[in-house]
Amino acid sequence: MMLTLGSSSAIVAHNLAALGNRVGFVSRIGDDQLGQIALDRLAAGGVDISKVRRVTGSTKTGLTVILQRDGWRNMLTYAGTIFELTFDDLDFDYLASSRHFHLSSFYLQRGLRPQIPDLFRKLKAAGLTISLDTNDDPDDGWQGGLRDALRYVDVLLPNEREARRIAHTDNLDAAIASLAEVVPVVVVKLGERGATAQCGSERFVSPPVKVDLVDAVGAGDSFDAGFLHQFLRGADLESCLANGNLAGALSTTRAGGTEAFRDPEHRKRFFETHKSAMT
Ligand SMILES: Nc1ncnc2c1ncn2[C@@H]1O[C@H](COP(=O)(O)OP(=O)(O)OP(=O)(O)O)[C@@H](O)[C@H]1O
Ligand SMILES: [Mg+2]
Repeated sequence: MMLTLGSSSAIVAHNLAALGNRVGFVSRIGDDQLGQIALDRLAAGGVDISKVRRVTGSTKTGLTVILQRDGWRNMLTYAGTIFELTFDDLDFDYLASSRHFHLSSFYLQRGLRPQIPDLFRKLKAAGLTISLDTNDDPDDGWQGGLRDALRYVDVLLPNEREARRIAHTDNLDAAIASLAEVVPVVVVKLGERGATAQCGSERFVSPPVKVDLVDAVGAGDSFDAGFLHQFLRGADLESCLANGNLAGALSTTRAGGTEAFRDPEHRKRFFETHKSAMT
């Protein structure tokens, strides 16, 4: 068994910092050892954790147990404090002092969700750009104000299945086209097939980076970090996609979403070997 940093948002934060960005992480944890381990990992990665709120009480820090089988896996999530983060846990001035805001796992943010459209609206008014990775909806309903929130999103980062579910169609191209009417940049992660994006009427396709896969957990979140790293520097969409694929691929070379990123030698060697994927 191994213990590694999780939650989509923590992986994005950790890996964005590993790529050289100034990152603040806002969350709620329980008064328990696992929350402390997660905090220590984020801090060691250079993430500002000063706005993480530790709450004493019966609800503990969320965790996921992954049982790897041959070719498939069981995943069991205890959401814990993730469900309980609310608007009052956020320091708006702290958020507004940033250039960009990324939100992960829309459907796990039960406490915050009713206020997400309003939060996005206020952050946009403060001049930030916004990215959203909904991840899965465990109830598979795909409602709950997502449409309202999307009006303020600059970059939407679903995987293939999520894109189809958000758009309520089985046809991926139709899904991307309809989401692109609402969101300026729609990026769809295609696993071992790389990624595609639509910006207005323009469509981009980016091939995957060839790797010896160890574990794909957290590859999507690592992709988000790689993509946003370039997006925040004003790079063109092709470069953002290529860097997303590079970061996603790096993630698959070690178990979990951050192990490959927190080993600087491994990370540098991987980027040097696959430099041609960077444009
Ligand atoms: N086998 C692979 N080879 C190369 N790159 C990969 C592979 N699997 C994943 N990736 C990279 O990681 C990205 C994200 O993978 P995926 O489509 O599985 O995201 P996801 O479903 O959101 O994952 P997550 O479980 O982290 O939420 C892909 O777009 C690709 O860049
Ligand atoms: Mg994902």
